[in-house]
Amino acid sequence: MQIKQFRYSTDNFSYLLYGSQSAMAIDAGAVDSILSYVKDLNLHLQYLTNTHMHPDHVSGNREILERTDADFLDNQTLRKQKTILLDNETIQVFHTPGHTEDSMIFHTDGHIISGDTLFNGTVGNCFTGDLKAFFSSIKLIFDLPETTIVYAGHDYVRYAIQFARTIDPDNPELDRFLSKYDPYHVFSTLADELKVNPYVRFNDKKMIAVLKKRGLSVETEFQRWKSLMEVY
Ligand SMILES: [Fe+2]
Repeated sequence: MQIKQFRYSTDNFSYLLYGSQSAMAIDAGAVDSILSYVKDLNLHLQYLTNTHMHPDHVSGNREILERTDADFLDNQTLRKQKTILLDNETIQVFHTPGHTEDSMIFHTDGHIISGDTLFNGTVGNCFTGDLKAFFSSIKLIFDLPETTIVYAGHDYVRYAIQFARTIDPDNPELDRFLSKYDPYHVFSTLADELKVNPYVRFNDKKMIAVLKKRGLSVETEFQRWKSLMEVY
């Protein structure tokens, strides 16, 4: 399975997953770029879907469905179906509520398309208010191998690292991460996230010390996640 990232608006990303013949577009706001890529590679755009239904992620849906014969895979169907078969390869679908109730991530071939659940260097806002559900979603992601590549819904890298520096100023990993940053191909691994992303470092000694110093509860993983999410 191949994965191509397309940038649109200020910092949004679309993704195209494809095999030798068929393709699936996710959050297809970059309509023209996606369609010309599909044409150049002589692919058939079989499916269109979304990581969640926020307006900036679904902005390309209508036009893609008008200009192609792609089938739209809706959230409810995918949550039941749990997998998508594309050119005989399997894409796993995980329901990951937290940022929104309908958030999903897609997993294939050592990559995740993580929408606004996990970004490179930060996590999404918890608009559902359900930090427990969000925590389970994050735990589910981090059960995947640390080599897993994270393809997120936005490029927030500079902002995220700048913010991480306010919590953990002398972390050398932050500079290392920024030196690898390329706005034309934005990704990280789960291993990178465990080094730089303050919100997923709830088991990191340094982060626990920071929370303790502020008098926050650090007894359980969930308490530490909650403290990180509520305070920062
Ligand atoms: Fe969103």
